[in-house]
Amino acid sequence: MTGVLALKYRPETFDDVIGNQDVIEVLKNQMSGSGQPLSHSILLHGPTGCGKTTIGRIIARTLGAEGGDLQEVDSADFRGVDTIRDIRKQSRYKPLGSSCRVWILDEVHRLTNDAQSALLKELEDTASHVYYILCTTDPQKLLPTIRGRCASFQVRTLTEKEMKKLLLKVVKREGESLDKDVYEQIVQDSMGHPRNALQILAQVLAVDDDKRLKVAKRSAEKQSQIIELCRGLIGGAPWPKISTILKGLKQEDPEQIRRAVLGYCQTVLLNDPNDQVASVMQEFIEPFYNSGHPGLVLACYSVLYAEE
Ligand SMILES: Nc1ncnc2c1ncn2[C@@H]1O[C@H](COP(=O)(O)OP(=O)(O)O)[C@@H](O)[C@H]1O
Ligand SMILES: [Mg+2]
Repeated sequence: MTGVLALKYRPETFDDVIGNQDVIEVLKNQMSGSGQPLSHSILLHGPTGCGKTTIGRIIARTLGAEGGDLQEVDSADFRGVDTIRDIRKQSRYKPLGSSCRVWILDEVHRLTNDAQSALLKELEDTASHVYYILCTTDPQKLLPTIRGRCASFQVRTLTEKEMKKLLLKVVKREGESLDKDVYEQIVQDSMGHPRNALQILAQVLAVDDDKRLKVAKRSAEKQSQIIELCRGLIGGAPWPKISTILKGLKQEDPEQIRRAVLGYCQTVLLNDPNDQVASVMQEFIEPFYNSGHPGLVLACYSVLYAEE
């Protein structure tokens, strides 16, 4: 339910995309023929919920790929070499009705090593009617040779001003209005991630006017507890401190916490190489879908106490 606004307001054209104007500018130029031609292997990387998949789809649509000529593969679900072999086979055929065929490989860092090697081969000899768009939060997990093969675009979090613009736009289209302090609160909570912001906004709009600031603040509290957790893990805080934070987060979805921790760490890591941050990410890289809260607690404990 909370993803409703994010889906409803997914940008459909380059001009709808908020922030990331450097990326949009280059793509628009290349696709209108005024820049250098668009590469047939494109890598979109950056934090979660900031527009990678969205921009990938806009590129595909602008290239004119539709119907069966546009394929989206979630590499987290189809990780093996068979997936790539299958794509290689299909890609030899001419487009069905469009002028080209496009494969969007989402979460592409999840491909196995074998699959990545097979993908590299395909990228090295892509047919002229085929484009590959690779999306990932973890480009460092790709073979360097894959990265080298692609035209790379870094998608970034939004500034506070850009986030405000997004929120104003969605609130207006929803026929709603919000107090200034509620906007400010959501901007703070979202930490620059549009998907995050729209999820909080959906929760805020679901309640009456007088409760909205409270709902936004609750989400801020959760957010700040998660930030505390990140700081504690990175700084090697004593276990009682970590366990207190974990108890406070008991009602929250461990998967959401996991992703928030990864997002925070990624931002830290991109600004400053730091082994402890990398080892936090290591423990948080696999989903807690099955393990739930115990998985979260164990991951935190392992960060602090695991043997090398
Ligand atoms: N730059 C942006 N401008 C406007 N909305 C955005 C932007 N980035 C993300 N969104 C919103 O967040 C949702 C998730 O974006 P998505 O492209 O799936 O993120 P990613 O693939 O980077 O995780 C979109 O459906 C859209 O509503
Ligand atoms: Mg995505």
